[in-house]
Amino acid sequence: MMQLIEKLKRKRSLDIEEYQRLIDERDEETASVLAAEAKKICDEIYGDEVYTRGLIEISNICKNDCYYCGIRRSNRNCVRYRLSRDEILECAAEGYELGFRTFVLQGGEDPFFTDQVLEDIIGQMKSSYPDCAVTLSLGERPDESYRRLRRAGADRYLLRHETADREHYRKLHPEPMSFDIRMKCLHSLKDAGYQVGCGFMVGSPYQTSLTLAKDLKFIEEFSPDMCGIGPFIPHRDTQFRNEPAGTCELTCFLLSIIRLIKPNILLPSTTALGTVDPAGREKGILAGANVVMPNLSPVSVRKKYELYDNKICTGEESAQCRGCLEDRMNIIGRRLSVDRGDIKTAEVKYDR
Ligand code: 5AD
Ligand code: FES
Repeated sequence: MMQLIEKLKRKRSLDIEEYQRLIDERDEETASVLAAEAKKICDEIYGDEVYTRGLIEISNICKNDCYYCGIRRSNRNCVRYRLSRDEILECAAEGYELGFRTFVLQGGEDPFFTDQVLEDIIGQMKSSYPDCAVTLSLGERPDESYRRLRRAGADRYLLRHETADREHYRKLHPEPMSFDIRMKCLHSLKDAGYQVGCGFMVGSPYQTSLTLAKDLKFIEEFSPDMCGIGPFIPHRDTQFRNEPAGTCELTCFLLSIIRLIKPNILLPSTTALGTVDPAGREKGILAGANVVMPNLSPVSVRKKYELYDNKICTGEESAQCRGCLEDRMNIIGRRLSVDRGDIKTAEVKYDR
């Protein structure tokens, strides 16, 4: 195992079989060595700063029906909502006051949010707050749409690949969703000039150490600017209701590996991680993550954006979440950063 870690540090790459072995044969000692190495290289590049992004959940209306997701189209129990343009801008104004310099507009694939509607919102945000980055997390869209929104000022786009294994993808998503379209979208986003984030759930149904090894190889090759990973958590209104949740332990282990593959990557310690373990987000940061994404959505809708059961932070005001995370980061010796938090491209030791 120590040889694999040494090779990973030296080459920033392992074979798929080697990633698989690292996962299958992991133990506490391997995890702590990996976490220490991940933290060390993250510190060298980002110091003690943890970047924050203000998350605005703009709509839980979605035309897709992903088997794992609480806001899937066929969930009749989900109470639907959509924020208006003014409500979204109000969230951003509040976030700006609280010191956020990146806003993430996230939502289901809601046909209301046409290019025109989004261009207006993005344009307004960028002109009111020229010092801020706007990140979109709105799912699959046509190539031309990605280009238009980029021209309107969007800087970054998050689209989790969900799994890098075609058969696994099929077990998580019904037709007409497809692995090929997802991959094509990710490449279109890069071509359109976004800073791009991919990512996946840890412990999703039918996931194996082999599919995870393929996720790691995909991250290595696609070389995203960001990567969002968090544990799968079952939702009561989905067919995966009785499946076990992913663990904080495996999520942290994978965060460390991803940090060693891509030392500069922006790696969030997610809300889902804080949901499976009360200290999950702190553990994620100590394993090599360097981003947190507190919620800026109006409290009135928070409970409705429920992708999984027992999501945390659904009762707190934006300022409370900001303060809470600041305290949590300070306790582990980190500071919440108040700048845009772009990827740092400092040269790192590298040997192919
Ligand atoms: N558990 C954890 N994460 C989930 N997501 C969707 N449903 C769940 C769930 N039940 C993740 C998906 C999606 C992101 C917005 O949230 O990976 O891309
Ligand atoms: Fe929301 Fe702690 S971050 S309450």
